[in-house]
Amino acid sequence: MPPIASKPTLIVNARLVSDGREFESDLRMENGRIAQIGTGLSAREGEHVVDAAGRRVLPGMIDDQVHFREPGMEYKADIATESAAAVAGGLTSFMDMPNTNPPTLDAAALEDKYARAAGRARANYGFYMGASNDNLEAVKAIDPLRTPGVKVFMGASTGNMLVDNPETLDAIFKYAPTPIITHCEDTPMIDATLAQFKARFGDDIPAEFHADIRSRQACMKSTLLALELARRNDSRLHVLHISTADELALFERGPLIRGDGTRKRITAETCIHFLRFDRADYATLGHLIKCNPSIKEASDREALIAAVAEDVIDVLATDHAPHTLEEKSRPYTGAPSGLPLVQYALVAALELVREGKLTTAQVVQKVSHAPAQLFDVAQRGFLREGFAADIVLIDDTPFTVRREDVLSKCGWSPFEGRTFHSRIGATWVNGELVWDGSQLAGTPNGQRLEFAR
Ligand code: DOR
Repeated sequence: MPPIASKPTLIVNARLVSDGREFESDLRMENGRIAQIGTGLSAREGEHVVDAAGRRVLPGMIDDQVHFREPGMEYKADIATESAAAVAGGLTSFMDMPNTNPPTLDAAALEDKYARAAGRARANYGFYMGASNDNLEAVKAIDPLRTPGVKVFMGASTGNMLVDNPETLDAIFKYAPTPIITHCEDTPMIDATLAQFKARFGDDIPAEFHADIRSRQACMKSTLLALELARRNDSRLHVLHISTADELALFERGPLIRGDGTRKRITAETCIHFLRFDRADYATLGHLIKCNPSIKEASDREALIAAVAEDVIDVLATDHAPHTLEEKSRPYTGAPSGLPLVQYALVAALELVREGKLTTAQVVQKVSHAPAQLFDVAQRGFLREGFAADIVLIDDTPFTVRREDVLSKCGWSPFEGRTFHSRIGATWVNGELVWDGSQLAGTPNGQRLEFAR
């Protein structure tokens, strides 16, 4: 990361949460980095001082799964609007998916995205390379320093990126020079169940049956295949958005970095909506919570929360996938899957702390440390001297989510009307204040993520 001329800032009286610990400390930011952590730091001339008054200060969230829709679907989201929503939510880095239009299937499309983000992204950015049934040579040729990983849709979802040719899948798992990240849902199983529901209801299938159409069996079958491919080829595999209790038995329990210093080769992610919604919510939210994989039962939700606490799930992300309200109001078969989440994901995760289900240090592990470690993100994701000053101040004042406060371009949130007990009091990206607790601040200064591989 190049040196950055940010305003020197000293946070005093903070409760820092990093590296598994919560401790009282001050923190100094200088030139875009965390310059000093310690108690009793005194302000220097010209330094901006923030009194945290005992509030929690965390490393910003690194979201390893967002769909910011650029290029091609800017009518519903773009890098500028969604990264603004992200920093308002305490999210300071994002990794964006390749199912754009055109999809990100070669190095040129990848670099085009980085060029679009420069000077417009308020958070730091990385872009995934996508796989298809016919871009194996491009996948093999990826420079691992230029992308967090290769995304493989092993189930069809938004965009037409299904990879279902068995030889191609095997070759991707064998040759990809970066981590492979997968969307696991078995498309033939889903198509067969969908046909049954269509025969019964036509296009207007009640929303809650999404949990049955995008079934747990479809998740399990596809995840088993991904694990088999990864084990056979000794690949580094990260399975995205685990949504069922059943799949949890397939993953290694224990810290991402094991006691002997090695890192798990196969890892799992879940998303905030699987921890906060369940089948009962379709009755009130309908297609607003239609997403792929589907939100399933309350028992899945509780098992997933426990799996985060027990280190079966390694990463907690958003799968932020905005669609317009008009699109969402269509009958089932025409309503796209996905929901906007970046602005309220971290405060939603912190509710689990209030409920006694996770500690703040565990939340930080899953949303900041683990994505940094898993993707070898250079010098971000921790409150450590010398690391980038990507920082969030948590204010324990309750608030209720209102549509008029939503910054995502689609203009709605699945959390509208919900009360959260903490809010994002301030966000700094590369040492620069970008969210002051009630509005955006500064100019977009997100940096390209660097991968120390
Ligand atoms: O719900 C989803 N929406 N799941 C995906 O896999 C894609 C995403 C989107 O891009 O809309």
